[in-house]
Amino acid sequence: MRPPGPGLLSFGLGVYQHGFLQHVGTLWREYGDVFQIQAGRQPLVFAMHPDAVAQVTVANRKNYDKVASYDGVRDYITGKGLVASTGELWRRQRKLMAPLFTPASVGTYAERMIVDAERLGERWDELAAEGEVVEVAEEMTRVTAAIILQVMFGSGVELPIDRVREAVEVMIGYSTRRRVVPTPPLWVPTPRNRHYVEMREFVHGAIADLVATRRAEDPEAWPDDLLTRLMQARDDETGEAMDEELLRDESLTIFFAGHETTARTMTFAWYALAHNPEAEAKLHDELDRVLGGRVPTVDDLRRLPYTLQVVKEVLRLYPAAPFYVRDAVGPDQIGGFDIPEGAAVMLSPYYTHRHPDFWEEPERFDPDRWTPEREAARHKHAYHPFAAGARICIGNHFSLFETHLLLAVLAQRFAPRLVAGYEPEWEMQGVLGMANGLPMTITRRFPERVAAK
Ligand code: HEM
Repeated sequence: MRPPGPGLLSFGLGVYQHGFLQHVGTLWREYGDVFQIQAGRQPLVFAMHPDAVAQVTVANRKNYDKVASYDGVRDYITGKGLVASTGELWRRQRKLMAPLFTPASVGTYAERMIVDAERLGERWDELAAEGEVVEVAEEMTRVTAAIILQVMFGSGVELPIDRVREAVEVMIGYSTRRRVVPTPPLWVPTPRNRHYVEMREFVHGAIADLVATRRAEDPEAWPDDLLTRLMQARDDETGEAMDEELLRDESLTIFFAGHETTARTMTFAWYALAHNPEAEAKLHDELDRVLGGRVPTVDDLRRLPYTLQVVKEVLRLYPAAPFYVRDAVGPDQIGGFDIPEGAAVMLSPYYTHRHPDFWEEPERFDPDRWTPEREAARHKHAYHPFAAGARICIGNHFSLFETHLLLAVLAQRFAPRLVAGYEPEWEMQGVLGMANGLPMTITRRFPERVAAK
């Protein structure tokens, strides 16, 4: 039996009127955990139940790949990089890169993260003194971009961070737009095509220069950063290193996948805390008790469990990647419905995380859901902000560590406040966000500490 669902026209109209995120929620309430949109010959199936997450990402994962649905990302952003590669290339690269993202490796990046967090703290001290309204989403993007670029390419490198960030944003915007708006092929010199090509060449050139500079140096003197580790990684079986194109694509992929998602998570954390004074007070209490005004160390993080619970709850209610898709390479059944070969199956952290069978009062922000006992008692796939199975986000430890640390450094000193009358306009443009940004005023928790400096 085919899953129920609306026709393409009705779906398109609903998305146009209410936005993709909201409209999919309406359809979920109307049709249940599995529904489909008949888009030409390739149906788009939405599957919200944790069992479906388990089936697509683990139990029957061989039947689900990143094929047609990832053409846009592959062709216009990440090339051969890990996010959209498949088959043997993906398997080899994942194995090569996994050791760079284990909890132990991630801990070695802490110092650089702390430097950038502290630098932001200094900036916020000034902004707090001025009392001006600050665009917090932008603040978070800037700090996470700086962190990932530092971790990848080391400090002391002349990389125009803001220009790289803007150029990658143009590439993402172009790829997203191509998916929905008919666009001439790249060789047609329309202004939009030309702008995209120019930005891509700039980003590729900047990375190629970094690699060339490093190659020209004595390998003994190479800094201990991700680029060095990628350059030194060797395939177990063949002993081969990555070629220049692959190095470039993996570097770009990590930048693309690794900063905006984390920035959004931090942005949503400020929003959630400003709205939930009880949780904010518990967080402040833990930070004051454990750190007492000190800059946290890696060891401190273990002693800040509530801070991590806040991050996990933010990722539940506001998962930066609210949907991800897999292409069925053969027929299957999900929740008793037939899934034909070629269907695109859309899984949704945003809605699975609100499934009333698995979450009490799903809309309530409650970090106490994340005590170890309550976490262990839950369906393993009711929570999948980083996807699941073999293609789970390779940066999951990295981003949990980074957000844990950033929140500890910044929430210890600041309590950003929403401006009067602010209501978020949630939207989904690849990642979850607020169309109207997040304007806040930065308030110092201990003004005397700064004054005493
Ligand atoms: C809160 C932050 C983050 C969230 C919510 C997130 C979420 C996700 C999700 C849902 C996927 C699966 C996408 C799909 O299957 O289409 C994914 C994949 C991936 N992410 Fe993340 N991510 C985050 C941070 C990071 C960071 C910091 C890095 C790198 C340092 C990173 C690198 C990647 C890569 C390389 C993949 C592809 C993995 C593969 O297919 O083998 N992500 N992420």
